[in-house]
Amino acid sequence: MNRRPATIKSQAEIEAMRTTCKLAARILKMAGELVKPGVSTEEINEAVHTYTVEAGAIPAPLHYGADVARGIPPFPKSVCTSVNDVICHGIPSSREILRDGDIVNIDVTCILDGFHGDTSRTFLVGEVRPEACRLVEVSYECMMLGIETVKPGTRTRDIGIAIENHAKKYGYGVVEEYVGHGIGRNFHEEPQVPHYRSRGENPRLRPGMTFTIEPMINLGAKETVLDPDDHWTVRTADGSLSAQFEHTILVTDHGHDILTDWAKLS
Ligand code: MF3
Ligand code: CO
Ligand code: CO
Repeated sequence: MNRRPATIKSQAEIEAMRTTCKLAARILKMAGELVKPGVSTEEINEAVHTYTVEAGAIPAPLHYGADVARGIPPFPKSVCTSVNDVICHGIPSSREILRDGDIVNIDVTCILDGFHGDTSRTFLVGEVRPEACRLVEVSYECMMLGIETVKPGTRTRDIGIAIENHAKKYGYGVVEEYVGHGIGRNFHEEPQVPHYRSRGENPRLRPGMTFTIEPMINLGAKETVLDPDDHWTVRTADGSLSAQFEHTILVTDHGHDILTDWAKLS
């Protein structure tokens, strides 16, 4: 995350964000249609890669995020696929086959004409046990309740409070280490958008800001573990299931627009 203030997008930049976000939503919809028992997460990766490139866009995860000083390699694939206890940043693999009863988050980010669109959903694979279905439903509700707070003048913390309050009713853990983020020409920019009642920076929202809301909700405790071998895969510390939904949001003069709205696809 850079420490510059959140950018306010111009009318032209907002139009570019609308276009790239609509593409991200389309890619995610296509990817979701592939989810069924027996499919590998690498097959999903290949479909996302091909669809993105054919649309004239770039898959943002591919080769993203290397940090030589910290020994972090670039992300090796074009989409994140996070199965069951994987919270986020799961790496697609031909050895990872989706099975009946799994849940899988697919997180799509594309770059079109220099602007990023970022959206994810958790999909059910075949017949999923009720406890896991409820986690997925409540995670979606958490994201939507966070989104509903967004309008000029409210603050990032209001988003986190709405999300945390809902998750707490069910005893779920809200992940703190990974947060929503400003987005535009950069994949990750200011502001940070925690999904809990954070005591950190708490900027006011202003028209023209674009950022994601992407709560990660655990059936058990909120604590996370980073895979020591691949340096990307984030899992729940207690092995419990985790679900996530993500939209890219624009702050408008009187409220917000969901730029990656899957329902708005023509
Ligand atoms: N799409 C993720 C997010 O919502 C970030 C993935 S970074 C990657 O912020 F390198 F793993 F792709
Ligand atoms: Co994001
Ligand atoms: Co994302």
